Amino acid sequence: MKSLDNVGIEGKRVLLRTDLNLPIEDGDPQKTVRFDRYQDTIEELSEKGAKVVVVAHQGRPARKDFLSLEKHSEILSESLNQDVSFVPSFFGPELGETVAGMQNGDVAMLENIRFLSEELQNASPELHAHDFFVERISQYFDMYVDDAFSAAHRSHGSMVGFTETLDSYAGPIMRKELDSCSKIREEFDSGLLVLGGEKPSDLVGIIEEMIESVDGVLLGGIPGELALIAEGEDLGEKQSWIEEKGLDSKKHELLELIEEHEEKFMLPEDVATDSGNYEIGEVPDGEMTWDIGEKTTEKFTEEISSAEAVMMKGPMGAFEEHPDGTKQIVNAIAENNGFTVLGGGHTSSLVQRFGHDLEEFSHVSIAGGAFVRYMSGENLPAVEALEN
Ligand code: 3PG
Ligand code: MG
Repeated sequence: MKSLDNVGIEGKRVLLRTDLNLPIEDGDPQKTVRFDRYQDTIEELSEKGAKVVVVAHQGRPARKDFLSLEKHSEILSESLNQDVSFVPSFFGPELGETVAGMQNGDVAMLENIRFLSEELQNASPELHAHDFFVERISQYFDMYVDDAFSAAHRSHGSMVGFTETLDSYAGPIMRKELDSCSKIREEFDSGLLVLGGEKPSDLVGIIEEMIESVDGVLLGGIPGELALIAEGEDLGEKQSWIEEKGLDSKKHELLELIEEHEEKFMLPEDVATDSGNYEIGEVPDGEMTWDIGEKTTEKFTEEISSAEAVMMKGPMGAFEEHPDGTKQIVNAIAENNGFTVLGGGHTSSLVQRFGHDLEEFSHVSIAGGAFVRYMSGENLPAVEALEN
């Protein structure tokens, strides 16, 4: 995989694949950690004199956040304090004309690439290289830079096709994500996994991949609750909720892992509801559990403070209304001076929510699905395409 270090990009026409897929509130894209990171990449390429055309997607068909990138280009323009021309169409002469008219350091942004149906096919790089769009626009560029680690699990046109048609490089975000995540996946030999969130099914693959190399797995959030249910504990109201939502699909796999590696797992010993803190089995009828309890929080934070490395994915509970457990866990990881990685869509936003700087952690991933798959030992098609 080629990096941009020591590559002269002044005057080069660069097609930059980013992942500016942002949360949308009242129709407006939100400036998250993800946005800030891409601003840095774009700024860096622009300052080095490249002519940068930004490609990104927003949402997917049939979802509410499947929107134009015009507003993204506006907030990017404000943040960079330079004009970012928006190219609304994939066909016709606009893109070619825009690129031809760019000065060194100029930035343009193309419309939501997923508006093109050929983009969304999960196909090989060889096939995508023959997409109408990929074939037609490759001629306008000198190089392709893929900085979209968080979309690298999608074998989509703009993620893999250009690696066949243009001189291709991994961008700085792609490289940092791969460096840090591979360090956790491949070099972890004494560390802790702290796993929570809402999708236990996402975590089973990560645990399977990493259980031999870690010292411990702390389970909170829905995964922690599901583990308790699998062990036969009664979680009352929450149990029915988990079952209704179908979040228990990997219950048996999770239980098998826990039984096989019993000494490595720590499950919640108490939980918090609206009315207080309860031992497992003593939650009052009809009350939902929202967070890990105080005793569990204390045990988990103690484990975290003495760990050589920690990887956290997913909050410990419904952190928006009930932040206590998650907050103390994140604080403990921030204070740990070993190698610490936070991953997953929600998890990176926790850092700012709890008033931490990103620099307090070795790495804060901006990836959700790609992070989970990578940590589960899967190959990511767009990473493979850059390597070949
Ligand atoms: C993400 O935000 O996780 C990436 O942009 C991938 O989005 P997708 O799950 O819609 O492919
Ligand atoms: Mg996703």
